[in-house]
Amino acid sequence: MTLNVTITFLPSGRSATVRAGTTVLEAARRAGVPIRTRCDGKAACLMCKVTAPNSSSGLSPLNDNERHKLAGLDRSGTRLACQARVFGRTVVEVPEDPLRAAVRKQMMRQAEEDELW
Ligand code: FES
Repeated sequence: MTLNVTITFLPSGRSATVRAGTTVLEAARRAGVPIRTRCDGKAACLMCKVTAPNSSSGLSPLNDNERHKLAGLDRSGTRLACQARVFGRTVVEVPEDPLRAAVRKQMMRQAEEDELW
């Protein structure tokens, strides 16, 4: 019997029901949630960082690869989407793409300037 679990991605609120043991990265792809990668899941690029707000989430514990890569970061709840696996109902937060954030910030600045005229 295969156990299926549901993972929800914030801030979009999209979710996916996947087989237990699926990586967060693969679940995100199934949910249509973009997570940046450059190493294609080999724990090398560190671009796939997500946050699991609840430490008692349904994610696998840190594996050696992930623990080693995240050692320099002092952010609790940070996980690598390509390494963390889903074993129970969980919620993870995906950071905004830096390019998209820069564009949004510039557009807000432009809108504020337009209001002055
Ligand atoms: S995809 Fe590169 S570290 Fe996770």
